[in-house]
Amino acid sequence: MSEPAGRYAVFGNPIAHSRSPWIHRRFAEQTGRPLHYEAILAPREGFAAALDAFQAAGGRGANVTLPFKEEAWRLCDERTARAERAGAVNTLVLREDGSRLGDNTDGVGLVRDLTVNLGLALAGRRILLLGAGGAARGVLAPLLGERPAALHIANRTAAKALRLAAEAHGPGPVSGGGLDQLPDLPSGLLKLFQGWPDSGVILDQPPGPPFDLLVNATSAGIGGTPPALPDGLLGPDAVCYDLAYGAAAQPFLRWARGQGARVTSDGTGMLVEQAAESFAIWHGVRPHTAEVIAALRRELAAGSG
Ligand code: ATR
Repeated sequence: MSEPAGRYAVFGNPIAHSRSPWIHRRFAEQTGRPLHYEAILAPREGFAAALDAFQAAGGRGANVTLPFKEEAWRLCDERTARAERAGAVNTLVLREDGSRLGDNTDGVGLVRDLTVNLGLALAGRRILLLGAGGAARGVLAPLLGERPAALHIANRTAAKALRLAAEAHGPGPVSGGGLDQLPDLPSGLLKLFQGWPDSGVILDQPPGPPFDLLVNATSAGIGGTPPALPDGLLGPDAVCYDLAYGAAAQPFLRWARGQGARVTSDGTGMLVEQAAESFAIWHGVRPHTAEVIAALRRELAAGSG
């Protein structure tokens, strides 16, 4: 007996650009699961009501994108540990009794793209995370889970980077400061946090440049420019990754190529990996992602679909 198709959706505002329905349709074809997945434009002040209505009408799972991820976090009865840490939810399990479980698959999506698809070992590496908004918060703990030697958060507004660093727990030092302080690192470092209980240990590797991995989690690229960065940040084998995909990722990736990055990547792989994780949570089967990532890259390059 074949299973009835559950209803699934991605909520956002705007939502027309979302690739999630396309990706989930590929996963459904690949795994043979019947699936109804749609994109729902929720009014800015009407996400909770739209989610209630969807769940009451048989919705069993939802993805959530901008600007509703923090509100989705508040609307959950239970949250996974990684959603709790991220302070944002991008995946909801909607139960028949009306209760909701919230998860966040963004960070694990990034880590899978970096480690599995790009083949990078992050343990012992030095990471520079650019930005301190919702996107940076979502990927911070999963990056630290890979046990980098050091992670520095640099943000246009230094105070936000400091706050994020203060909340983080890493195996190595996690620090924060302003973008404009980057040239002065490590001497200009505002604050240094040791993840270990014996804080205050003298560091033999302060978290200044050169970095092995730069992750752009700012939204600067939407305006067509990279975040303002000094020269000399990249180590000889540096990898530069932008969480955005398509045109918004290009300003930072162009800057990175100009700085001699060994590898540059936009967030297409992360997008598909976070979707695969959501699919696995809902359906108990993990789709193969490589062919979907390749197909999505072709779609994006063609400017269609
Ligand atoms: P998101 O959910 O995409 O992270 P957000 O929470 O609004 O969105 O955060 C946007 C991030 O991009 C912030 O870190 C922001 O810096 P500020 O905290 O100083 O605002 C950063 N950002 C946006 N435009 C930028 C620009 N032109 N240059 C550098 N950083 C920028």
